[in-house]
Amino acid sequence: MSSTLPASVASAVERIRAVLGPAGCLEDPADVEPYLVDFRRLYRGATPLVACPASTADVAAVLAICHELGVAVVPHGGNTSYCGGATPHESGDEIVLSLRRMNRVREVDAGNFSLTVDAGCLLTEVQAAAEAADRYFPLALGSEGSCQIGGNLATNAGGLNALRYGVARDLVLGLEVVLADGRVIDGLSSLRKDNTGYDLRNLFIGAEGTLGVITAASLKLFPRPRTVEPAFVAVPDMGAAVQLLARTRAATGDAVTSFEFLPRIAVELTTRHVPGVADPLDRPYEAYVLCEVSTARDDPALRSLLEGTLEQAIHDGLALDAVLAESLAQRAALWRMRESVPEGQRAEGASIKHDVSVPVAALPRFVAEATAAVLAIVPAGRLVAYGHVGDGNLHFNVSVPLGEDGTAFLAHAEAMHEAVHGIVRRYRGSISAEHGIGRLKREALARHKGHVELEVMRAIKQALDPKGILNPGKVLPEPDAGR
Ligand code: MLT
Ligand code: ZN
Repeated sequence: MSSTLPASVASAVERIRAVLGPAGCLEDPADVEPYLVDFRRLYRGATPLVACPASTADVAAVLAICHELGVAVVPHGGNTSYCGGATPHESGDEIVLSLRRMNRVREVDAGNFSLTVDAGCLLTEVQAAAEAADRYFPLALGSEGSCQIGGNLATNAGGLNALRYGVARDLVLGLEVVLADGRVIDGLSSLRKDNTGYDLRNLFIGAEGTLGVITAASLKLFPRPRTVEPAFVAVPDMGAAVQLLARTRAATGDAVTSFEFLPRIAVELTTRHVPGVADPLDRPYEAYVLCEVSTARDDPALRSLLEGTLEQAIHDGLALDAVLAESLAQRAALWRMRESVPEGQRAEGASIKHDVSVPVAALPRFVAEATAAVLAIVPAGRLVAYGHVGDGNLHFNVSVPLGEDGTAFLAHAEAMHEAVHGIVRRYRGSISAEHGIGRLKREALARHKGHVELEVMRAIKQALDPKGILNPGKVLPEPDAGR
């Protein structure tokens, strides 16, 4: 490959080799392969080198070299992006920067309810470090065993507990970031209060590696939940689910940690395709909610409160049936069903995805309008609209009609995105509630963001990465796109 590389890229590769040594450089095609294809297999890129630095100083050295030579760098975490945010371009001229060797828990400060970790720690490793100190790190996602905390922060991941604890951004106290030219912002403070000017930290969260590379983070911890009560509730529809959410929040003293909506088809796809998943209720219903309440106290009364709320909801027609978990194994089974919806949907064939959010109270109207819009385009499309109703965030996905060809179905993707996003805009919603922009949604971003917002985003990019070497072609649309 190196014979066809531009001289600047070949020179960068040689100099990075000298800095990182063999342990820090993947070049063998078999070793590089996993870094070339995104999780959803939408993109296949190429790269002459996957650089695997072992320290912040290494990252700084790699970026300084690439900045000097004008060579592009694609930061790469656990490769769980849904939008191709960490995949290099097919040109083969971009260097991949994997943070996987930077996986140390630097400090756990139980008294300050904080911990400091390298960006390459798996999310489960961060959770475990907190638990070992009798603390709780609440970010939780289906991919937590393979995603890295640096990627979670770079994409501002949401997940299953955002309703109570917020999204990734809300859990950050400080960041260490390497800038495009190799300078390091040492912002690893663990303070709750610090009103000293611009909030640089929040610029890098959600920027998907286009403004700097997050190398470490200081994160908030919480008391460990001691009473956790999940319930699987059959509901008539989204309207009932939204009312049940408000009622349960009020009745439990705002103890609702998660409130996830599942249409019947989500239960069917998971029970059909994912081993070990079973329908917890003995007859089918139109829709369900997986609701979990928790508190940091040992509190037997919480279960009775939840039971009472659900009994009243059944009486009032907001719920049709419900089952509470009787054991940790039952709780795990409920969450396994919820977390394997993407796997069930993938196994069912092609799908067109929308990761949208609208104000919670608008969800029922949004679902009705967006369903009609989707079915007007593909009348037999199978709606798999599920997700984080407590956050107003739905994965408004559509699976290929039964027995139809996936490629023909996917040809409708653009029309469907346009239709669904148009409705989202009317509710002042978001076209990417928690999955980011990456490469997939750049053009949609151009249509969705205001002119002035895009100008400010470009000005920030220009100020922090004037040579445009950080994750080019991601997040920011081309200047003439959209509108
Ligand atoms: C989920 O909540 O299951 C994920 O965000 C994945 C998805 O959109 O399918
Ligand atoms: Zn989700």
